[in-house]
Amino acid sequence: VSVEKPQDTWLVAAYACQRRSPLPNNNQLLTDALETLAEEAHFCGHEGRSLAFSRASSVLKALPRTVRRVQELDSLPCLGEHSKRVIQEVLEDGTSAEVETIRQSEKYQAMKLFTKIFGVGVKTAHQWYQEGRRTLDDLRGHPAQLSKEQQAGLIHYEDLNTPVKRADAEAIGQVVREAVNKCLPGASVTLTGGFRRGKPSGHDVDLLITHPVEGQEAGLLKKVIACLDQQGFLLYHSIHRNTFESLEDSDQEPSSHASSMDQYERCFSIFCLGDLPGDAQEGAGAEKPSRVRRTSGASRFWKAVRVDLVVTPYSQFPFALLGWTGSRIFERDLRRFAKREKKMLLNSHTLYHLEQSRVYRFPQGIERMRRK
Ligand code: GTP
Ligand code: MN
Ligand code: MN
Repeated sequence: VSVEKPQDTWLVAAYACQRRSPLPNNNQLLTDALETLAEEAHFCGHEGRSLAFSRASSVLKALPRTVRRVQELDSLPCLGEHSKRVIQEVLEDGTSAEVETIRQSEKYQAMKLFTKIFGVGVKTAHQWYQEGRRTLDDLRGHPAQLSKEQQAGLIHYEDLNTPVKRADAEAIGQVVREAVNKCLPGASVTLTGGFRRGKPSGHDVDLLITHPVEGQEAGLLKKVIACLDQQGFLLYHSIHRNTFESLEDSDQEPSSHASSMDQYERCFSIFCLGDLPGDAQEGAGAEKPSRVRRTSGASRFWKAVRVDLVVTPYSQFPFALLGWTGSRIFERDLRRFAKREKKMLLNSHTLYHLEQSRVYRFPQGIERMRRK
């Protein structure tokens, strides 16, 4: 909770999960600078440093007003010396020399370009950079060296780096809902990720699928994908198998490794979205463009959109929903808060009391959440 104090300073909680996270950002210039530093640290493999800059940015996003003087920051948590120095520079000069140098550096630009390709992480991007590659055309020249995912990422690079609008996300949600219900009546599809946080646009569409009868969801993803593929909705998909060991079968403490990846069965896909905004207004007589798979052409009626599909057993759905809603910093802090302040282990599957060795169940969880 952030409370405005009279003398122009703010009280902001140190854990992101304890403060309001309003959508309007009153300090975009400052948070952009800090996020560039976070990104650069990430590109160099300095995760701790990267996280520190991300946290600093997250704190500024919680402020109800634009920061004018660096003294206003004295009461704020998570702002290190380095962050404060950069903030002061931007406040005084409108820009930070350090940040500008990074933004103009050849390495940062290449790393940014490459990591924006679907299926490319920092490791691969860095390797390409070391090999002297700098442009997408440098990569297109050697398609055999790319994974199927990366090839698809390159083909649809422009589209996949164009923000997805909420209306498109909802249209895709509806298409998936219809396919899911054809395969398994009674199953539900929930839009999560940034859109669930109220963002008007995002980089992808995150959908959670479940069925109120535990166990019914088994094998569903494969069927749904086949159904969507048959209708021509999919430009790319890869299914990753669930490797979660049921807690039911073990009284062992769930593993607490740092990875934020969960173990649900999921599909990373690229959808072909046919009906772009505007088509709807063309009236009944207009030819419906629908999903056309065209790889070239001047006038396109479709757009490639990244979609994450995740299937969860009903009993774990509340934790999956919480874990997939984001933001990344919010999730990290929620887990850190659970562990440090509550002695609990939280992940996208479960909540576990470390001292009482107790797993929290959520039997009527979904109904209770729906009623709210
Ligand atoms: P944009 O898509 O960029 O608009 O933002 P977003 O917040 O929706 O990000 P993203 O789609 O990358 O992820 C949504 C949320 O799901 C984030 O909080 C991630 O931390 C979380 N998430 C992404 N992948 C995984 C995963 O494999 N496992 C778990 N548990 N969470 C994940
Ligand atoms: Mn998302
Ligand atoms: Mn996602």
